[in-house]
Amino acid sequence: MSRLGNAVAVIYCLCIYCSDLAEREGFEPPEACTSTVFKTAAIDHSATSPRQKYTYFVSFFFENVFFNLDNILLHLQVILKCVISLKMNAKKLLFCLLCFLTSGFLFLSCKTEEPENCSIATLYTLPIPRYFPTNLNIPKDNPLTVEGIELGRHLFYDERLSGYLGDNPDSMMSCATCHVQANNFDVGMNNPRFPNGETFGLSGAPTPHNTMPLTNLVFNHEGYFWNGLIHETNPNPQQRTLEDVVLMGIIAPHEMNSTPERAVYALKQNPKYPTMFKRAFGTEEINISRVQKAIAQFIRTLVSANSKFDKYLRGEEQLTATEMRGYILFSTEEGADCFHCHGGGGTPLFTTNLFYNNALSSEPNDPRDRFSITKNPQDIGAYRAPSLRNIMVSAPYMHDGRFKTIDEVLEFYNTGLQYSPHVHPLMHKLEQGGARLTPMQIADLKAFLQTLTDAEFLTNPKISKP
Ligand code: HEC
Ligand code: HEC
Repeated sequence: MSRLGNAVAVIYCLCIYCSDLAEREGFEPPEACTSTVFKTAAIDHSATSPRQKYTYFVSFFFENVFFNLDNILLHLQVILKCVISLKMNAKKLLFCLLCFLTSGFLFLSCKTEEPENCSIATLYTLPIPRYFPTNLNIPKDNPLTVEGIELGRHLFYDERLSGYLGDNPDSMMSCATCHVQANNFDVGMNNPRFPNGETFGLSGAPTPHNTMPLTNLVFNHEGYFWNGLIHETNPNPQQRTLEDVVLMGIIAPHEMNSTPERAVYALKQNPKYPTMFKRAFGTEEINISRVQKAIAQFIRTLVSANSKFDKYLRGEEQLTATEMRGYILFSTEEGADCFHCHGGGGTPLFTTNLFYNNALSSEPNDPRDRFSITKNPQDIGAYRAPSLRNIMVSAPYMHDGRFKTIDEVLEFYNTGLQYSPHVHPLMHKLEQGGARLTPMQIADLKAFLQTLTDAEFLTNPKISKP
């Protein structure tokens, strides 16, 4: 018998042996995954192709049997079985053993560090753009994985998530019904379902506030929503994380108006999901916590960092004279003085993500402002400063959507500031009612804001409807 023949014999024995063992022990892929090879193998466990079966059995064997001294009796048995069934002589047997050992060590050398929840999916490292903060808001119990993100994308765009099983489109809603990619994952003025960006849920109830973009949220640690309600310090354990926001979107009457049970039931009607859930979380089970985790993972990958201004920062493109004048106005106290709250070159998120009263009203009286969370009178009429990235496509503007165009916003900051004792001290131009810029300066400022549009992000097929 040739050497190749010997190797085939080894594999053959191994397969017989492992399948016997697997059957006898009613073996299921282990919860704890132990090597990269095993991960792939375990995923393919249900598959029937010989190659997949082989990988699965071989890795199972080396992980659990061969290098486990408790199994010494089993080892002897299998060797005996092989010797008998293949009529081996001593030389062949020695060769077989050597084969076993080397391939075993090869398998074991693939061992990797595992995340705490030991998912069998492939860990994904989010690329952090140059100049961006490196501190990411990713909880330990929901690490990003390639399979989790892909599942999250399918769920984000799936109108069945609203739990309705008929085919009347008006009775269905996905996250993307309100969070539209082309509009910076905000609602937009051109949304066919919500004229002027005025959103309401499947119950017909209007949303208490204007929709928010979902861009660059992985860098935000200050809380979600206009008032920062969802934060790790919230006494209610159901209102702390991005995962919690997902569930709130599903059940809120002013959003999907569904229940976890209805949502899961509706998703189960789609045959694509069991495999996708298995790839992402190890088993085919569809439950609401997995839905929350997957969608949160997808949202954490929505990073916009390739606008004209980013290219300028990286030295790849020049700003025009008007854009440059706008940038200077934006970033100086003598100019328009926007940068304290909305960042700039040094704070490339174009927001601090902190809360300010920006002088919209002389008598702020919204029961859902920042004050409703902190009970600090300085927070009356205060909201989280939105990022100005992709601001040209994020209309309508402000927590109540009161401004429909960027020109209205700029006019407000220029001449429309309203005095109240709650206005944030960083609104330096309050006393003069605004920045008092000339029409040309306003045009410059607007030209600068236009450089924050990231066309690649707004059209990237990898984050669009699958
Ligand atoms: C009916 C429209 C609508 C639907 C559908 C909807 N949202 Fe929202 N979303 C909103 C509004 C409005 C807000 C602002 C909430 C507030 O602060 O009052 C918001 C805020 C958010 C935020 C917070 C963003 C931030 O910067 O703090 C996240 C995250 C979010 N939505 C995710 C989702 C997900 C995930 C889904 C699907 C499960 C979803 N939304 C479905 C309207 C919607
Ligand atoms: C003191 C902090 C502060 C300063 C200074 C400031 N803003 Fe704002 N900005 C905010 C806050 C807070 C909001 C959200 C307010 C709300 O929704 O009620 C906001 C909202 C906006 C919005 C609407 C964003 C959206 O998605 O709805 C734009 C555009 C904007 N600001 C541009 C500017 C410009 C341009 C300047 C300089 C002229 C400026 N801001 C100065 C805090 C500030």
